[in-house]
Amino acid sequence: MTDFEVRTARADEHEQISRLFGEAMMFDATLDDIGRQMFEPDRALVATDGGEIIGTTRALTRDLSVPGAVVDAAHVTGVGVRATHRRRGVMSALIGQQLREVPEAIAVLWASEPAIYGRFGYGAAALGTAYEVDLHRVGPPSDRIRPGALGVLSADEALKELPALLRRLQEQRPGISGRSDLKWRQHLQDKPDERAGRTERQILGYRDESGTILGYALWRGKMNWLPTGPANEVLVEELVAPDVTAYRALWQHLLTMDLGAKLGYGHAAVDEPVQQLVSTPTALDRRISESLWLRVTDVPRALQQRKYAVPHDVVLEVTDHLIESNNGCFRLIADDTSVHCERTDAAADLGLSITDLGATYLGGRRLTEFTTTGRITEHTPGALTRTNTAFTWPVAPVSLEVF
Ligand SMILES: CC(C)(COP(=O)(O)OP(=O)(O)OC[C@H]1O[C@@H](n2cnc3c(N)ncnc32)[C@H](O)[C@@H]1OP(=O)(O)O)[C@@H](O)C(=O)NCCC(=O)NCCS
Repeated sequence: MTDFEVRTARADEHEQISRLFGEAMMFDATLDDIGRQMFEPDRALVATDGGEIIGTTRALTRDLSVPGAVVDAAHVTGVGVRATHRRRGVMSALIGQQLREVPEAIAVLWASEPAIYGRFGYGAAALGTAYEVDLHRVGPPSDRIRPGALGVLSADEALKELPALLRRLQEQRPGISGRSDLKWRQHLQDKPDERAGRTERQILGYRDESGTILGYALWRGKMNWLPTGPANEVLVEELVAPDVTAYRALWQHLLTMDLGAKLGYGHAAVDEPVQQLVSTPTALDRRISESLWLRVTDVPRALQQRKYAVPHDVVLEVTDHLIESNNGCFRLIADDTSVHCERTDAAADLGLSITDLGATYLGGRRLTEFTTTGRITEHTPGALTRTNTAFTWPVAPVSLEVF
């Protein structure tokens, strides 16, 4: 018996849903036109008690880079339950229904607390690194940056030029969410009341000699004057440069900002190349934490839509307590040109839970991480090493944006 009902949201419930999520996360939701246009009511669920909304979850229609491909992924957000209705199973009912209904083969989210989502079969697939760089110690690159190569872009220029760079980065690295035109407009908004004492956002672009933009950084500054002198802060919000010359120049510029003492960046990959460009990587003061959580909702489709590092043939036995059709054995055959996966009666080579399949799906976590604790079982000797080699991707996943 429950004292609440779960149903799909209606178009006129955007404001109520936004406010409820704000209340759950303890911030005042501000509503604007872009947010309203981006609301997808048929992809939002609400829990109601006596007609009043007391819980919500939403799935956004976006794509995601996975090893060797860019695929549709339900981007789950706005999970919140009114404080008066917590620990009665409201979130469990919302998330369970959402996972059974989403048409995509994978769902992803950022968790407010890491302890919440493992029980629903989400695994921490991308680890992110936050930097608090000591600019006096870091030893940045000292290339000669061609005069005129770096320049500030207007928002209109950015809307025209930046999307292609993000798409190129998606081809290079798993874990990156695609953005629609509307999402780009939302992303580049710079509301004064959200700056928290920092300057307005600067969009810094790197151009080659023909004027083509090869990379960009979104950053802000904060003045901080101590008795000992200037100790300003540089906050990098995003840096996207699929081209290595642009990447080096943008980092060099940001790491050598006049009056700067500290630089913060929240979205570095575990293998972020800037670590090799500075003379003292420890001065980056790296802190690793879970960023993107991934849930496989359709095992054969999900396994078929990513690529593998080497040709591979394996039977995986998957257990899933929420989605019945994911339970059982699946044969995965991948060669240099194609990937095929289907249900099989053959005996399993490896057994794993849907959570650990999610954690290893982006190729950044090793299957072998989970065997010492008994979470992945090897039935055929050698299968673990071979599958680990096929699943692990040469470039670590990273999520560039909390959604
Ligand atoms: C997190 C939240 C959505 C949980 O909602 P809820 O309806 O209370 O969750 P449920 O009753 O379905 O709990 C299911 C299980 O998750 C556990 N759980 C819930 N919130 C948790 C938390 N923050 N940390 C760890 N475990 C949590 C419950 O203890 C319960 O465990 P059990 O089945 O072993 O008893 C709600 O507390 C909330 O709105 N929090 C603030 C906003 C937030 O953090 N949202 C998540 C954004 S990513």
